[in-house]
Amino acid sequence: MARQQVFHQPVLVDEIVTWINLRDDGVYCDCTVGGAGHLLVMLKRTRTARFVGIDCDPEAIAYSRQVTADYRKRCFLFENNFINLDLILDGLKVHRVDGLLFDLGVSYHQLTTSARGFSFERKGDLLMRMSPNSLTLGERLRRAQKEEIVRILREYGDVRNYRKIGHRIFEMRRTLNTTLELRKVIEDSVPRRFLKKNLHKIFQALRIWTNDELVNLGQGLLVAYRRLKDGGRMLVISYHSGEDRIVKYFFRGLKKQGQIQLLNKRVIKPHEDEISRNPRARSAKLRVIEKCVCS
Ligand SMILES: C[S@@+](CC[C@H](N)C(=O)[O-])C[C@H]1O[C@@H](n2cnc3c(N)ncnc32)[C@H](O)[C@@H]1O
Repeated sequence: MARQQVFHQPVLVDEIVTWINLRDDGVYCDCTVGGAGHLLVMLKRTRTARFVGIDCDPEAIAYSRQVTADYRKRCFLFENNFINLDLILDGLKVHRVDGLLFDLGVSYHQLTTSARGFSFERKGDLLMRMSPNSLTLGERLRRAQKEEIVRILREYGDVRNYRKIGHRIFEMRRTLNTTLELRKVIEDSVPRRFLKKNLHKIFQALRIWTNDELVNLGQGLLVAYRRLKDGGRMLVISYHSGEDRIVKYFFRGLKKQGQIQLLNKRVIKPHEDEISRNPRARSAKLRVIEKCVCS
């Protein structure tokens, strides 16, 4: 793995550590461990609490193993998809957990490592996958129907010229090998001024599709909720309106059934000073719930 200065800068750290309600006799699960930014702070704030960390990206797990090495007796890391939380907890003989964190989206490392193919600013093969077990973006594009590409751009990208762009990508898909070639195809299909704001949205939409992010999120939330203790807390940071909608409606449904309390009436967002230090935090939204104690 190419070592970088910063693997990832975690967002809303104080808020996460406060809301997850750490206890020394607790078991907590970070379902998107990334560069272990949140995880390491939680390890440092506790003496005996145990932590399970999951990430589907082997580079994230390798890096996190290094930075959490001092805590290996109470920190267990797994390269896996968080939809497999049941398998992981069963393997550890952990029935229920006291707190769960999802910090969705991609890490800075993934986004800025050219070879991973996530960025429209760096030349890389058309990979864009978090896990080496998934199909690459190039493979997905070659298998996709025209209307599927259009739908992805419309639903996940929220951009105006989705049809034009989608048709052009479809026509050119067999010739595309790199991120910059994809960018060029998009640039050639719509006016430049339109792209300034929207190129990142188009790449983000393709990333969400390549990694089945919204499907995984729906499944992951359900599995996670079932493994939460009564009185336990689940925290979700989302960065995309599609993610946030899934989280919001999932929590609303549970609230209506009297299963949970929403601990924050309004979503928690980073303060201005955090955003100026870390502009990526700008779109972060944190939602926190507590599972009701069964009577
Ligand atoms: C925003 S980063 C997390 C950063 C982390 N909180 C930190 O402090 O460094 C999101 C991470 O979630 C991982 N991820 C996304 N979807 C996943 C899934 N379905 N299962 C496991 N990991 C996933 C990505 O590989 C990425 O490393």
